[in-house]
Amino acid sequence: MHGTIFTLLKRYVQTQYDHSTWIQLLENSGLTAADFDHKHVYPDEHMYRLVGEAATMTGLSATELHEKFGEYLVPDLMYMYQKLLQPEWTTLDMLEHTEGTMHRQVRSEHAENAPPVLHVTRVGPDELFIDYVSARRMGALAVGIVRGLAKYYDEADVIKVEPTTSENGEEVRIRVRRVKSVG
Ligand code: HEM
Repeated sequence: MHGTIFTLLKRYVQTQYDHSTWIQLLENSGLTAADFDHKHVYPDEHMYRLVGEAATMTGLSATELHEKFGEYLVPDLMYMYQKLLQPEWTTLDMLEHTEGTMHRQVRSEHAENAPPVLHVTRVGPDELFIDYVSARRMGALAVGIVRGLAKYYDEADVIKVEPTTSENGEEVRIRVRRVKSVG
């Protein structure tokens, strides 16, 4: 997986917990490389080990951790790929364009990059379905990223994110709706 995701995981642990927690996490995961570099691709296995150990250390489930981490990733991902964003987009438009723009760009940057395939079906102005497909089984990260996007676009109170399948499979369906704000 892309080094950026590892770098952001490191920052997530350092800011939500502290630096010594990160060191402890690396040690528990049997990893020595303290630094990940955004120009390199690292084994997926390292990410699984880090998230698995972090779950043990925090008492949260791996699903919860993936969701929280996904939410945390959004501002940085948006900043890094800001050139590809259109100013008129809000949460649902952004989701509709991720596959054809952001993930497409990521795939073209490095032959080893393999972001998940996101089939997005816009069923109306205020609703869409995301069909996530990836052998990495990180649907919970996708759920977190959608929540993070809603926050980013200041729509956290009106965007409902509902996985309609298990979040842990290779194929995950997520329903995203914009509801009328109350009051
Ligand atoms: C600004 C928008 C986005 C950018 C720049 C971005 C970029 C990336 C990058 C660089 C990776 C790592 C790929 C690799 O290591 O091969 C990745 C993975 C991932 N992306 Fe995105 N992404 C964006 C939006 C989204 C959205 C909206 C979703 C979900 C709805 C999503 C879901 C995921 C998931 C779940 C992974 C983990 C790998 C996997 O499950 O196979 N991303 N993305």
